Amino acid sequence: MELSQAIAGRRSVRKYRSTAVPPEKLARVLEAARLAPTAANRQPWKLYVVRDAALKRAIGVAYKNPWFYEAPLVLVMCALPDSAWTRVDGRNYADIDAAIAFDHLTLAAYAEGLATCWICAFNAQAVKDALKLPPGEVPLAMTPLGAPAEDPAPTPRKPLEDLVVYR
Ligand SMILES: Cc1cc2nc3c(=O)[nH]c(=O)nc-3n(C[C@H](O)[C@H](O)[C@H](O)COP(=O)(O)O)c2cc1C
Repeated sequence: MELSQAIAGRRSVRKYRSTAVPPEKLARVLEAARLAPTAANRQPWKLYVVRDAALKRAIGVAYKNPWFYEAPLVLVMCALPDSAWTRVDGRNYADIDAAIAFDHLTLAAYAEGLATCWICAFNAQAVKDALKLPPGEVPLAMTPLGAPAEDPAPTPRKPLEDLVVYR
């Protein structure tokens, strides 16, 4: 699939089939995250692939929509600020690095016929507790991963002239 097709066609999907994700598809999705650029190439992130049903239910305490935690897989992206590049003014780039990798992953998933939905409105402490995250791993975003059971319409975007400034 052309990159432009993946960028234009990806949707936030909130309904999933229970069919398992083929391992070779999962491998390509994870590889897309691994290849993402990061500041100073620090790669300050850790991705949890949650397969276990009980663990997915435990993560459901953090974000209570069944379409999320009943999908075949739940991916949890954690930022590692302690190993990230920091700008001279103190700005830490861990969240940005993790977000880039996560977005690579969502596009790669779409190209594989799989669906995702960025989830950030979750209770971070509940995720830390469910996954027993070590100190320093900050849950940043989660997504279900599986075959879509809906085909959402595209959501609107602002016109380019509202977003881009030429000087
Ligand atoms: C950083 C971020 C956080 C988001 N958090 C949630 C969320 O907690 N729950 C949810 O249902 N969707 C969430 N979304 C999905 C957005 O609502 C969605 O991307 C946006 O409405 C555009 O729709 P589209 O992804 O189908 O193009 C999030 C998206 C991003 C990028």
